Amino acid sequence: MSSSCRLLLLIVIVHGSTPWPLTPIRHVNVPFLEDLGRWAVSLHTSQKNGLLAFDKLVSARKQRDHKGSYYNLTINAWNRTNKIHEYRALVLIEEHTKKTELLSFHSARLGLAA
Ligand SMILES: *[C@@H]1O[C@H](CO)[C@@H](O)[C@H](O)[C@H]1NC(C)=O
Ligand SMILES: *[C@@H]1O[C@H](CO)[C@@H](O)[C@H](O)[C@H]1NC(C)=O
Repeated sequence: MSSSCRLLLLIVIVHGSTPWPLTPIRHVNVPFLEDLGRWAVSLHTSQKNGLLAFDKLVSARKQRDHKGSYYNLTINAWNRTNKIHEYRALVLIEEHTKKTELLSFHSARLGLAA
C-alpha cells in the first residue's frame, strides 16, 4: 500500500468513527431548528427536574453520518435565577426511525451545571 493510500484509509477510519466537526448553519431563525432547541430545553428540564425556559436559538451546527443528523445547538434559556444563560445541546435525529434523541445538554460556561 502506498503511503498516500494509507493516509487516505486513516482519514476514512477517523472520519467514520466521529461525526465532528459540525458545519455551521447560517440561518437559525427557522421553526424547525427553534422547535428542536425548545424541545431540548423542555426535555432536559423534565429529566433533570430543572427550571429552564427557552428564550432563543443562538447558533446551530449540523453533521450527518450513517446514524442520522446531528445538531449542535447553542441556546439561550432563562435559568432558575431568572437570568438568560447560554446552553449547548447535542441532538440526533435518527435516519431510519426518525426518532429525536438528546445526546447532551449543558451550560456553555465550563464547570457550571445546567
Ligand atoms: C458544539 O459547538 C460548540 C461551539 O459552538 C463547541 O464548543 C462544542 O464542542 C460542540 N460540541 C460538539 C459535540 O461538537
Ligand atoms: C444563571 O444565569 C446567569 C447569567 O448567565 C449566571 O450568572 C448564573 O450563574 C446562572 N445560574 C445558574 C444556577 O445556572
